Amino acid sequence: MEFEHVLVAGAGQMGAGIAQVVAGSGRRVSLYDAAPGATERGLATMRKSLEKLAEKGGSDPEEALARVTAVDDLVPADLLIEAVIEDAAVKHDLFRRADETLPDSAVLASNTSSIPITSLAAGTGRPDRVIGMHFFNPVPVLKLVEVIRAVQTSDETATAITKLAEDLGKVPAEANDFPGFVSNRILMPFINEAAYALMEGVAEPESIDTIAKLGFAHPMGPLALADLIGLDTCVAIMEVLHDGLGNPKYAPCPLLRQYVQAGRLGRKSGQGFYSYT
Ligand code: 3HC
Repeated sequence: MEFEHVLVAGAGQMGAGIAQVVAGSGRRVSLYDAAPGATERGLATMRKSLEKLAEKGGSDPEEALARVTAVDDLVPADLLIEAVIEDAAVKHDLFRRADETLPDSAVLASNTSSIPITSLAAGTGRPDRVIGMHFFNPVPVLKLVEVIRAVQTSDETATAITKLAEDLGKVPAEANDFPGFVSNRILMPFINEAAYALMEGVAEPESIDTIAKLGFAHPMGPLALADLIGLDTCVAIMEVLHDGLGNPKYAPCPLLRQYVQAGRLGRKSGQGFYSYT
């Protein structure tokens, strides 16, 4: 399986980062987003990141950008990587449409952080060529790609996607399709517990984050990281863990829910555990 032309669906933070690393590997990218103006914003995000990397000896931003075309609908390609909003109905609809548009030989990959790949695969006529390709934010910097095998994913598809991840300069790690996979099953309870520590008055946000940063050598503390990911996304993933694993220990912290209700979603809304104004 060769992936010369990749369709990236979703031009937000994750989609733009994915398009950037795919274009940076010399492949042709079509970037699609249903929201008006989103592909332009995605291209601007890519330019900013490529310029940062060029300052440190990376290649000319124009070279990678020239390989990316904004498209206003799904187009045939060798591979779809989907990074649209974390909403099961939206993703199922996108996979159904991609199944109709992309050639039968194409692979359909999802960057979902928690929606079952097995159910996305079951909604297509090519379940053996559906897989999870979970990147980490910021995509141009973080090396990991969690490769998630649905129950139906073939060995051939898993091998091809693992090889592609390596070709993008990433380090693939394989996981099976259980709620939250590996990454979010570990990360989200950590963030959730930090929110409980704040809610119960154990410590202030700065103190909680300093303890994680200096005590465990994490690049950022759990509350700052939650702000980066988006508190709405954190709550949604905790709900998937809670529903899927049926254990009360995965219930989202009430403080997280309350912040989301207040529109305090983290960096993207200007306010989360910290203020970004
Ligand atoms: N593009 C290019 N370069 C970037 C960049 C981007 N988007 N973002 C940061 N950088 C570069 C900076 O230019 C800087 O380069 P330098 O060291 O040469 O000056 C370097 O990365 C470090 O950035 P900063 O100095 O601004 O700040 P930090 O040292 O704090 O690094 C960080 C920022 C890379 C975000 C780091 O704090 C980090 O790795 N944090 C943890 C992020 C993390 O855990 N992400 C995973 C989230 S979970 C997820 O995505 C999965 C989902 O399912 C929830």
